[in-house]
Amino acid sequence: MRAKSVRAFRALVTTAKKTPAVVQSLSAADLPDISQVKGEEGACSVHVKVKYSNVNYKDALVAQGLYAGLPLPMVGGIDLTGTVMSDSSGKFKEGDKIIVNGFGIGTDHFGGFAEEAKVRPEWCQSLPAGMSHLTAARIGTAGYTASLCVEAIRQTVKPSEGPIAVSGATGGVGSVSVSLLSNLGYEVHAISGKTEQNAEFLTALGAHTVLNRSEFEVKPRALGKERFAGAVDACGSNVLANILSMTKRYGTVSACGLAAGLDLPTSVAPFILRGIILNGVECVYLPISKRESAYDLLSNACPESDLDLIGRNPIISLEEVPVVAKAMLSGEITGRYVVDPSA
Ligand SMILES: NC(=O)c1ccc[n+]([C@@H]2O[C@H](COP(=O)([O-])OP(=O)(O)OC[C@H]3O[C@@H](n4cnc5c(N)ncnc54)[C@H](OP(=O)(O)O)[C@@H]3O)[C@@H](O)[C@H]2O)c1
Repeated sequence: MRAKSVRAFRALVTTAKKTPAVVQSLSAADLPDISQVKGEEGACSVHVKVKYSNVNYKDALVAQGLYAGLPLPMVGGIDLTGTVMSDSSGKFKEGDKIIVNGFGIGTDHFGGFAEEAKVRPEWCQSLPAGMSHLTAARIGTAGYTASLCVEAIRQTVKPSEGPIAVSGATGGVGSVSVSLLSNLGYEVHAISGKTEQNAEFLTALGAHTVLNRSEFEVKPRALGKERFAGAVDACGSNVLANILSMTKRYGTVSACGLAAGLDLPTSVAPFILRGIILNGVECVYLPISKRESAYDLLSNACPESDLDLIGRNPIISLEEVPVVAKAMLSGEITGRYVVDPSA
């Protein structure tokens, strides 16, 4: 891609399948003015100076050229937070601080791994009052998804009803879920594949008990001993099936991820014999009003000290994203990585 004007900025561009993304120099003219995400045409009238992005599992796939069906070239980064440079729609004014999580940025439309982006006004959410760009970047899609998962549990299960399991506990969704649930008074049982290295981290976030994931990777029974009043599951496959079989009568399990696989080898037994609610969570196209409620919960129940712990990794540059992405795809990452496109 060739810079078309004098004012150039840096972007991490995925140019080919199975090939790590590279930093290129782009200009505003290289940023798409129209979005075709979900086949719906919309003007990308908001020109943003990106302050931070972060690395999610999807970003890791994009940065390594491994995201199935990725249109090329693509600027990754499913999250961005920054300042509005201009908005011809009039919805935002210069200097407004915004967040964009999802809506297809980073996979279907140029995203946050660049110093500038052009996005639709409908995708932009004002940075919550009192929240810094850094905090918003540490939360990102993973933290906001955790909030949606926890809210569904909060609506149906009281802390007195029993422990809540969190799988993929050291990951982005998992670690924020542990923090939120413990701060809301739940007894959290964190399930992790890296218990030895991370028991201290999970306990510091408020986990009461740390369980080895291997126990949940075995062939699931239709029904097991009732252990959890609810769960946040980032894994899917056998892990989710085992959690469902161990969930107490009328418990709620929020399922958001597929770190262990896309399948779900269970039966109807947990649903028809114990009345378990399986709550599916989808965050990419959720309306802004529901996102604002999720951020309210984060502001109230995920303290800055927990986000400091979750986001304790150094802030990385665009050049470092493919390296972190490779480690993330190998399951070697703990906590969140914030990306500064200007670093
Ligand atoms: N539905 C939505 O809208 C939505 C939104 C955000 C994320 N997601 C999905 O949610 C999942 C978690 O996202 P994330 O950002 O938290 O990812 P992440 O930071 O990579 O965390 C995933 C965690 O899962 C565990 N894990 C890794 N490999 C595993 C395996 N083979 N089997 C079982 N567990 C494994 C690891 O934790 P431990 O080592 O502690 O076990 C890892 O830290 C991903 O599948 C992501 O695509 C969905």
